[in-house]
Amino acid sequence: DWTTEAFIEETVADLKDLIQDKKVLLAMSGGVDSSVCAALLHRAVGSQLTCVFVDHGCMRKDEPRQIEEVFSGQFGMNLVSVNAEDRFLEKLKGITDPEIKRKIIGEEFIRVFEEEARKLGELDYFVQGTIYPDIIESGWDGGKSVKAHHNVGGLPERIDFKGILEPVKYLFKDEVRKVGEAMGIPPVITRRQPFPGPGLAVRCLGELTREKLQILREADAIFRAAMDEKGYGDQASQFFAVLTNVQSVGVTDDERTYGYVIALRAVLTTDFMTAGVVDLPISFLTEVAAKIAVQVQGVNRVVYDITSKPPATIEWE
Ligand code: XMP
Repeated sequence: DWTTEAFIEETVADLKDLIQDKKVLLAMSGGVDSSVCAALLHRAVGSQLTCVFVDHGCMRKDEPRQIEEVFSGQFGMNLVSVNAEDRFLEKLKGITDPEIKRKIIGEEFIRVFEEEARKLGELDYFVQGTIYPDIIESGWDGGKSVKAHHNVGGLPERIDFKGILEPVKYLFKDEVRKVGEAMGIPPVITRRQPFPGPGLAVRCLGELTREKLQILREADAIFRAAMDEKGYGDQASQFFAVLTNVQSVGVTDDERTYGYVIALRAVLTTDFMTAGVVDLPISFLTEVAAKIAVQVQGVNRVVYDITSKPPATIEWE
């Protein structure tokens, strides 16, 4: 008989028994799974746990700060937060192919992570936020045919560990959320929508630049805040902005402008293999569009993506 409280108690006790006085390393992505693993491990072994969060510069607005506030601030965990934006952007200069972008981000992520881990000295266990659906199925095909797999938190190749810990391996997503809530992780994380490992990189079409990422981050934050404010967020599995690489002519204060087109996407899905478009009211969409086009420098046009999956995918790249 599975109850959240019993699961937490047993898991923490088992981890304590196993780990003893050894050191544990966790790759924090800011997602639900790695966050709940961190909370379990922290309760079991406290300061023997170190979490490393690598910011690849493609996180959404305020996310790196939120991660620090929750895990370092609220929980008091050892959290190493690395701002590696410059390093990633340097590697991605001139790259436009989505699969190569993914590959570079995935590889660079592991390199930065390994460098940080090495600085920490002797480490015995590595934590992975694997959940049950990761083992049995994945809505995203993991690169077998369409997209190359990159999930932040993959296993560093160049560090030797005594063992891998996967404390939420047999849980489903909603169970992981419940455990997180019971352990005091705030909704900003437990209710977080699925976010791809390469982050905004696959929503910022074409070459990545600091400027384009900044525009996308602002537009995306406006859309997500409006969705949550009106309660539409609960009707969507994923909703976000995309910076198309298209520029179009507009007009502001009688001046001709030439700015980016932002696409908004909101989909509802159970398995991520197929997805439907969320039927958002046009009045709501025009309000959001106006807000984005007025408030975000460099954007003068906003469109809503009304394509299901298939034939489209959820992400644009
Ligand atoms: P698509 O775009 O293939 O997305 O319909 C299906 C689901 O997979 C997520 N996705 C990714 N997740 N790394 C990830 O960790 C990736 O490179 C990646 N690409 C897509 C997408 O957000 C959706 O939930």
